[in-house]
Amino acid sequence: MNFLKFKNKKLFFENLSIENITKKINTPFYLYSSKQLNFNFNTFKNAFKKIKPLICFSVKSNSNIKIINELKKNGSGADVVSLGELKIALKAGIHPKKIVFSGVGKSYEELSYAISKNILLINAESESEITTINHIAKKNNKIVSVGIRINPNISAKTNKKISTGKKGNKFGLSLDACQKIFIEHYKYENISFEAVSVHIGSQIFEISPFKKVLNVLTKLNQQINHTGINLKYIDLGGGLGTPYSNHEKPFNIKKYAQIVGKFKKINKVKIIFEPGRFIVGNAGVLISKIIYIKKTPTKRFIILDAAMNDLMRPALYDAKHHIQPVIKNKSNTFKNIEFVGPVCESSDSFISYKKYQNLKEGEFICINNIGAYGRSLASNYNTRPYAAELLINDNKFKVIRPKQRLETLIN
Ligand SMILES: Cc1ncc(COP(=O)(O)O)c(C=O)c1O
Repeated sequence: MNFLKFKNKKLFFENLSIENITKKINTPFYLYSSKQLNFNFNTFKNAFKKIKPLICFSVKSNSNIKIINELKKNGSGADVVSLGELKIALKAGIHPKKIVFSGVGKSYEELSYAISKNILLINAESESEITTINHIAKKNNKIVSVGIRINPNISAKTNKKISTGKKGNKFGLSLDACQKIFIEHYKYENISFEAVSVHIGSQIFEISPFKKVLNVLTKLNQQINHTGINLKYIDLGGGLGTPYSNHEKPFNIKKYAQIVGKFKKINKVKIIFEPGRFIVGNAGVLISKIIYIKKTPTKRFIILDAAMNDLMRPALYDAKHHIQPVIKNKSNTFKNIEFVGPVCESSDSFISYKKYQNLKEGEFICINNIGAYGRSLASNYNTRPYAAELLINDNKFKVIRPKQRLETLIN
């Protein structure tokens, strides 16, 4: 179900007209729908209801505390990758025993804090990290639950910049390295090895890479039997794709649930997931105003007040985020247009269209599907403050994080 819809040519998110919101809040702003967020989370939860996994929302995809708190009300845990994200998850009310800590370079300070909070799992990605965890645990007289993130050397069949599970990627440990650590687990007296985790990439639509991962994990689980390690959890990461255009079919979550169901039966472990984009991707849009329209011999530039610092994905990954007018009109005579931002980079370009409705300076547009990796990837480049974030709840909108004050950047 999609809560972003035209009604009588006006774009609505839930029951609110976006045009009306632009009369009250200055653009650019991020606008989230709690109905869409809850719907997505419950779609995920229901698909896997037979196996009752722990769903740890990937905070990196959207680290707004109110969003995390909304998900917490639905039972979500959190997957965090930094001290900042861990503190946000805890402040949002997520129980430490529902938090997993991933990341290739966790510092001593970050690990010490995570250990002091007794979180569910630290998913370690190197032998040195495991040694550091053991050292901190010993100093604090604790036994710490650790998972090992493996790198299964499997192609996620996605954009190479968001692929993380191939041999050449920096993430995780090889299967051999993981087995070696499990065999030598006695060396780490203050660690209880309880899990293996895997995350091969993001925006994956095909089931086959996930199938391969499950096969690798089943084999690994059998191979480590003799080491004395009994896995309590297998953390399957995130990565489920969400459509960014009408040509992309939604991810077949039912099929994925079937194969994970079989996997759980064989392996007899608790399953953890770390979805981000699937939960929050289409729960957010970025609303922007057309500042200028510049006609050149080859095309028309539609210059917006939102820029690559507000939404990095097009510049970073060539991602396509569709742009809709906030008010539709019948004309369709604009040819060869390119939506761009005001930042001084040629890559500050959102998307081009061969044909589009007529637009005017001062009109508003809506950039779709920015709930995931939108605000969380934003920057202050060109000394532009972070835009405000709004959440629709109960037919009202609320500013859940105000626009950053420019003064905070001028010091
Ligand atoms: C370890 C880990 N888990 C989960 C995620 C979330 O991925 P997605 O938003 O594609 O579900 C990521 C994203 O990069 C990740 O690195």
